[in-house]
Amino acid sequence: MSGFWSGWVKLLVVINLGITFFLFIMALRIKIPTQADGTTGHVWAHGVLREGVRKLPLWWALLSAAMFIAGFIYLTLYPGFGGFKGVLGWTSAEELQRDVQANNAKIEAVLQRHRGESLEKWAGNTAAVEIGHRLYLDNCAACHGGEALGNPVLGAPNLIDDDWLYGGDLQSILTSILDGRNGVMPAWGTALGRKGVNEVAAYVVSLSGVNAPADWVAAGKTRYETMCTACHGIEGRGNSQLGAPNLTDRSWLHGDDFARVTETIRDGRTGVMPSWRERLSEDEVRTIAAWLVAQRVPAGGRIHQNGHAKPTS
Ligand code: HEC
Ligand code: HEC
Repeated sequence: MSGFWSGWVKLLVVINLGITFFLFIMALRIKIPTQADGTTGHVWAHGVLREGVRKLPLWWALLSAAMFIAGFIYLTLYPGFGGFKGVLGWTSAEELQRDVQANNAKIEAVLQRHRGESLEKWAGNTAAVEIGHRLYLDNCAACHGGEALGNPVLGAPNLIDDDWLYGGDLQSILTSILDGRNGVMPAWGTALGRKGVNEVAAYVVSLSGVNAPADWVAAGKTRYETMCTACHGIEGRGNSQLGAPNLTDRSWLHGDDFARVTETIRDGRTGVMPSWRERLSEDEVRTIAAWLVAQRVPAGGRIHQNGHAKPTS
């Protein structure tokens, strides 16, 4: 807190307590002028009610005094009086840290017994999966969606299908999350021109069985072989070193309609997956991976069928 605000808060506290103290003393001492009949002379409800004068009850006075003193004690012990830290040195940050530590200890207790086990085993551990789900919702759902089905507008991939940009083994998934990823698809609009983009896009969609004009597909194939194979592979199956997607399946990072595909080829795309190493421990990331696997393999052991990113437009 800057010196000015500290002073300002102190001033407010002093004024507030001063007024309270003044009213308190006044209330005990003040003499209210009374009439001969012992009332104030105020008359209510057409003369039915007259306002009497009573002393403040003792309990009220004692309680107020106690509250007043408690206020003083609080401001001496705890932070509250501007920048003054209080005699006890208590801080909410420390309390938060204690809570975080207690929480970590709880997570640790769940995880330590299973540390050496496979991800599939973890996925069967309800406690770990539950922690993972909560962490997923807090940290990942904004981009990858509440059900981890991905978001083609953001280029955030589906995380519960068996199609992976960077590999679906435990180590690759942990690396993706802990260190982040940055996939770069260059822009080809200038090099290919409008016609060239359409042709190569036609070839690309034909790889996953979508019908496209045969002459475009043929011309696009030649262009693809000179310009795209370095990253997407000769057969278009992608490259997990570069995060270049498989173009032969029906799972699309940026949406499956022809306009989106041409847009990707013309203007390029960059996908940024943030790094979580600073914010999540490796164990926490494991619980998230366990939740993802649990989504993929339901109790029956069958792979989730509708796991592909659905285009929103
Ligand atoms: C700001 C948006 C954003 C957030 C938040 C985010 N991601 Fe990502 N994530 C992405 C994008 C975009 C990609 C694709 C990166 C690329 O194109 O190279 C990605 C890729 C991944 C991959 C690699 C997938 C593959 O197919 O290989 C994994 C795994 C992943 N994210 C998990 C997570 C988890 C777990 C969290 C939460 C801890 C998370 N992400 C939070 C945007 C995000
Ligand atoms: C330097 C490597 C590189 C080259 C060369 C390259 N790409 Fe890509 N491409 C990528 C990467 C990486 C991505 C994923 C971008 C992201 O993470 O958002 C991508 C994404 C795509 C997508 C989107 C796929 C989806 O699932 O939405 C298409 C389509 C595509 N590329 C087609 C092409 C075509 C056609 C060419 C040749 C004209 C080409 N790429 C050349 C690296 C490359």
